[in-house]
Amino acid sequence: MTSASARGYRRLPPADAPPLLWPDYGSTVLRAPAQPLQYLPHMLTELTGPLLGEGRVGPLDHDLTRQHAGEPQGQRIIVRGRVLDQDGHPVPHTLVEVWQANAGGRYRHVTDNWPSPLDPNFTGTGRALTDDQGRYEFVTIKPGAYPWRNHDNAWRPAHIHFSLFGRAFTQRLVTQMYFPDDPLFFQDPIFNSVPDPAARQRMICRYDHDATQDHWALGFSFDIVLRGREQTPFEDEDDDA
Ligand SMILES: [Fe+2]
Repeated sequence: MTSASARGYRRLPPADAPPLLWPDYGSTVLRAPAQPLQYLPHMLTELTGPLLGEGRVGPLDHDLTRQHAGEPQGQRIIVRGRVLDQDGHPVPHTLVEVWQANAGGRYRHVTDNWPSPLDPNFTGTGRALTDDQGRYEFVTIKPGAYPWRNHDNAWRPAHIHFSLFGRAFTQRLVTQMYFPDDPLFFQDPIFNSVPDPAARQRMICRYDHDATQDHWALGFSFDIVLRGREQTPFEDEDDDA
């Protein structure tokens, strides 16, 4: 492993990143570091830890609609895109993981108990490896908006959480993908914690008619750029909403 690959996954410069302390997003007040951060460069130990090999991703892991005996409720969608570096080059063979709420906006999680039904045919997690061209694809259902207690009448815009592992475990990057024209963007402190309005737009997928399959699923495209001017905003790994 070379130092060049490590530089390829360095974090956002602070000016472009969501702040760790964002009072509108209440949880950050409790967990944001009180002391200045220290930069710890990746050394050999961090870069040679365990990796997730291709053999560990099953052929249906990318299809969240086929993990149970029946089909989940909701609008079936295909989400596809590429993982790119700052020069637009594809990042092949990298692990992309997603997790999301069901069509009613509820997670299958012990702490999510708001009165929207669980779907017995939907777990809400999936993973895929990018191919030689850096492409990934998921089949899932469109998640619903859900309430949270961050502020009065707070509802999160529909979103899918993305996690990407680079070439080492310590290079994990996390972001959220939103859907076009969501009416809830105006009041969402997580979406609006990204300082640059143009960068916020890079967290929104686009409707992709070429990916849409007749009488089957709507298609959306979402490219993830790891660095550079077109970088996809990444968030604190501890974000829990
Ligand atoms: Fe969420």
